[in-house]
Amino acid sequence: MKQICVVGVGYVGLVTASCFADLGNSVVALDVDEKRIENLKKGIMPIYEPGLEELVRRNVKSGRLSFTNSYEEALDGAEFAFIAVGTPSGVDGNADLKYVESAAKSIAHSMTASLIIINKSTVPIGTGDWVADIVKGAQPKPIDFAVVSCPEFLREGSAIADFMSPHRNVIGSLDKDAANKVAQLHLPLRAPIVITDLRTAEMIKYASNAFLAAKISFINELADICEAYGADVKEVAAGMGYDARIGRHFLDAGLGWGGSCFPKDVQALAYMAKGKGLNPRMLNDTVVVNYDRRKAVATHVEKLLGGDLKGKVIGLLGLAFKENTDDMRDAPSVDISTALISAGAKVRGYDPVARKAAAPLLPEVEIFDDVYNMTDGCDALIVVTPWNEFKQLDLERVKDLLNSPVIYDGRNIYDPTLMKAMGFSYRAVGR
Ligand SMILES: NC(=O)c1ccc[n+]([C@@H]2O[C@H](COP(=O)([O-])OP(=O)(O)OC[C@H]3O[C@@H](n4cnc5c(N)ncnc54)[C@H](O)[C@@H]3O)[C@@H](O)[C@H]2O)c1
Repeated sequence: MKQICVVGVGYVGLVTASCFADLGNSVVALDVDEKRIENLKKGIMPIYEPGLEELVRRNVKSGRLSFTNSYEEALDGAEFAFIAVGTPSGVDGNADLKYVESAAKSIAHSMTASLIIINKSTVPIGTGDWVADIVKGAQPKPIDFAVVSCPEFLREGSAIADFMSPHRNVIGSLDKDAANKVAQLHLPLRAPIVITDLRTAEMIKYASNAFLAAKISFINELADICEAYGADVKEVAAGMGYDARIGRHFLDAGLGWGGSCFPKDVQALAYMAKGKGLNPRMLNDTVVVNYDRRKAVATHVEKLLGGDLKGKVIGLLGLAFKENTDDMRDAPSVDISTALISAGAKVRGYDPVARKAAAPLLPEVEIFDDVYNMTDGCDALIVVTPWNEFKQLDLERVKDLLNSPVIYDGRNIYDPTLMKAMGFSYRAVGR
């Protein structure tokens, strides 16, 4: 049993804390957000993540997991302190490190014994060294510590499974003893462990996210070519994916990526490259191709409706940036509804779990609690998020409720032949 403190109780921090507790460690999870901690103490989750509530409840009950706002309390007896605070985009696309800086300073002020500080947040190359300088500078008296990078690769929606069965754990530090101790902590996960230096570990995270984002932008560019020549991008992706060098994952054409990671991480990597006088052309184009997907949706729907969106009522199936999460950060639904509204349409939305999170970001969108109520009186539907619930819709009922049977399937969840046979005016992506 190890004593662990996790700083930042968001998507990554809460999953990290509860999974390490479930592995038998004693974990204190800390956040500066008092309401968040107060709610967690009452068993109220700050985010939607499948299985998380039960995992938290089980580990709180066993006494292995607790929550606090106090750094002193969280660091008391801790051998490891994970930093899992947000690193949002700054004004120029750089990663804004203000939360990391403040967490590092607070750790420095409150630590009373030697500590391994492990950075789980996604941070620019060199941040580990910078954190070490901050801690050294802010300590009231010198106490031994090491800084280790251990980037997180979990995906929202399958975060617990991803954490518990990772493809690999990356551990970066120049301090071999600290790196080995962090490796020991991860041994129960039975995944390959890549031990490297701090900067390389930081780069592995950005490189992985940028590659995955580029893969999606690539298949989306192919989708347009498929559409222009009458090929089916879904079958193209399947045919490509059997090749082990390519792989099937992240080859789903659609409305592109969004969320809390890819947008900011690709831009932060490009920013880092530019900072050294490099010209990251592929990264730049990965971003451009992605956001063009969102811009094109209003035009596609306009065409399906015969040329005018003025006064038309459009329903969005899904608001979260992806399925199985309530995360609305950089969700395509926001850009898509803005474009539809500026073309004169009235926009409605439905999402199985993200309605509350979506409301402040979509003030002009009428958000419904029921998908069929939303559909009633719409002129067209757009599939924005591929929730399973939408794959099982009663499409006959949907057709009856719509003013005109128009569906733009931005996630390719329906069968085009079937949709046309049912009488829908249906358009998919790259098919
Ligand atoms: N969300 C993901 O899917 C994911 C996956 C892999 C990596 N990451 C990376 O992990 C990091 C965290 O992301 P997230 O989505 O969990 O963020 P989040 O916004 O959900 O959570 C961050 C938490 O940190 C807290 N916080 C901020 N400053 C603090 C401080 N000084 N002390 C204590 N708590 C503080 C906030 O109140 C918030 O609860 C980011 O760098 C992100 O890029 C995220």
